[in-house]
Amino acid sequence: MSQSSGKDTPSRERSISLISSGRLRHIAFIMDGNGRWAAKRGLPRKVGHRYGAAAFKEIVRYCGDIGIKYVTVYAFSTENWGRPGDEVESIIKLLGDYMDECEKTASRDSLRMRFIGDLSAFGEAFVERAAKLEAATAHYSHGLNIALGYGGRDEIVRACRKLAERGEEITEEAIGANLDTAGIPDPDLIVRTAGEKRLSNFLMWQSAYSEFYFTDTLWPDMKPHDIDLAVEEFFGRKRRYGKV
Ligand code: FPP
Repeated sequence: MSQSSGKDTPSRERSISLISSGRLRHIAFIMDGNGRWAAKRGLPRKVGHRYGAAAFKEIVRYCGDIGIKYVTVYAFSTENWGRPGDEVESIIKLLGDYMDECEKTASRDSLRMRFIGDLSAFGEAFVERAAKLEAATAHYSHGLNIALGYGGRDEIVRACRKLAERGEEITEEAIGANLDTAGIPDPDLIVRTAGEKRLSNFLMWQSAYSEFYFTDTLWPDMKPHDIDLAVEEFFGRKRRYGKV
């Protein structure tokens, strides 16, 4: 799937050099395939999510190391509430554990945390914790946006509702400024793992001009080298934004 330039093979050094051009600031990930990863090993789905969370940490760290300024991950969609209760609980537990961890590691990795989506169904304590973490990390340089209870259509509707309630004019700028991602540049690259080639209600507004990279690798198997492959392919693309 990767289109190597032929001259340079994807590597950490090559990624760093390409990214330093400033043309790839934001990568968003649809972390798919945790369930299939577990099924292949005869393990419960929640074990797949545990390994998925470990891959997430490694990939976020690597993206920061190679100079990516913003990472967004689709951790829990509005539709995921329809999964069996114990699976939902296991994902929420992993998120809680990660928040605990972040309270210590956000400074090491300079992570500026933001939660996007409708968190209300996660409960008041969770919402408060998320807000605290956002406030405590607001001065760090690397944006990590975690989409939870997130749906792109829901996000657009909520933004339009805010404008309507305030009697403000509905323009592209006004909608953008009222999305959960306000102030964050649109993703340059959206990576989806596990072979599916669809957006699944992720960043629908923000992805208008994003490049897409699909890989058959299941999310828990994602490694830094897979990011190098995606970066290499991204830099082989021509982004025309509708122009010639
Ligand atoms: C999609 O795989 C994955 C999810 C719905 C959950 C993603 C969650 C994590 C990676 C863990 C989150 C933890 C942190 C700390 C961010 P799937 O279950 O739909 O896989 P399948 O399509 O193979 O069944």
